Amino acid sequence: MDHAADTFRTDLMTITRHVLNEQSRHPESRGDLTILLSHIVLGCKFVASAVNKAGLAKLTGLAGETNVQGEEQKKLDVLSNEVFVNALVSSGRTCVLVSEEDEKATFVDPKLRGKYCVCFDPLDGSSNIDCGVSIGTIFGIYMIKNQDTVTLEEVLQPGKDMIAAGYCMYGSSCTLVLSTGNGVNGFTLDPSLGEFIMTHPDIKIPPKGKIYSVNEGNAKNWDTPTAKYVEKCKYPTDGSSPKSLRYIGSMVADVHRTLLYGGIFLYPADKKSPSGKLRVMYEVFPMSFLMEEAGGQSFTGKGRSLDLIPTDIHERSPIFLGSSDNVEEIKALYAEEA
Ligand code: AHG
Ligand code: MN
Ligand code: MN
Ligand code: MN
Repeated sequence: MDHAADTFRTDLMTITRHVLNEQSRHPESRGDLTILLSHIVLGCKFVASAVNKAGLAKLTGLAGETNVQGEEQKKLDVLSNEVFVNALVSSGRTCVLVSEEDEKATFVDPKLRGKYCVCFDPLDGSSNIDCGVSIGTIFGIYMIKNQDTVTLEEVLQPGKDMIAAGYCMYGSSCTLVLSTGNGVNGFTLDPSLGEFIMTHPDIKIPPKGKIYSVNEGNAKNWDTPTAKYVEKCKYPTDGSSPKSLRYIGSMVADVHRTLLYGGIFLYPADKKSPSGKLRVMYEVFPMSFLMEEAGGQSFTGKGRSLDLIPTDIHERSPIFLGSSDNVEEIKALYAEEA
């Protein structure tokens, strides 16, 4: 019996090794995406460390500023944003950045430019920071045709043109979920190595799930199809048992549970927010990209989420994503309404 193999795996599939393997599928690639992703991973490791000691290092609470979203920025929102902007610019592989926390897109110094645009939510679920509930970082990556002359128009691309997307969840463990267009893989940070090790190879979302995830506090303002769908979840008329409601309030955590267990996550439009709450470029698109790569679906109430063409970098959209069968149910209700 090979005991060593039991105790210390000696053939570690790190995220860097995985991305290098993926890169070998593109002979023309010069390793730029590998270098870019290694800088995103560095940002995630930094934020994971800051989140873990937030309470001790006085990193909880407000930063005293309000962002373009009209939200009071938390200290960790600002810190995480600075870390990711510095990591992405210093990678030398980006030409433009879109961040939830920056009103305008950041056009990188021409001397430092590379061929990618990265859209990111440096800290998702900020309302959960001070109570220690899981939060995360979300990112999506576009290839830009001409990095020297890139304009905002070139950034406002449909999500289906993203070449990679992922999120990092800072919870009981630090988990990074990534797709470069060839399926979805999950990696867990081993703090003793400082490396993300593959723990969830080739994630596929169950075709149907028993969990629905929505902020029921907005029920008064929902439109009819959403109201009907949630009613069906609670009082099924086909003899099936009612669904369970799970809602954490951090998109990364709610989506991660949906990806692994199946079911549906909804942030619908409502009378107060006719475009819903979640932001297209750095929440809806990356999560929809991952869902489709894992065999799920993502729907806006009007069409496929990845077909959206944003007109503003902070545009919002309603979103219904998760197991294919569950999303089909809500699509049917919107089709009835149309
Ligand atoms: P962020 O913290 O990046 O601004 O995102 C918060 C989002 C998302 O994480 C979550 O799904 C949603 O806000 C929760 O909104 P409600 O509190 O309105 O349910
Ligand atoms: Mn925010
Ligand atoms: Mn967010
Ligand atoms: Mn955020």
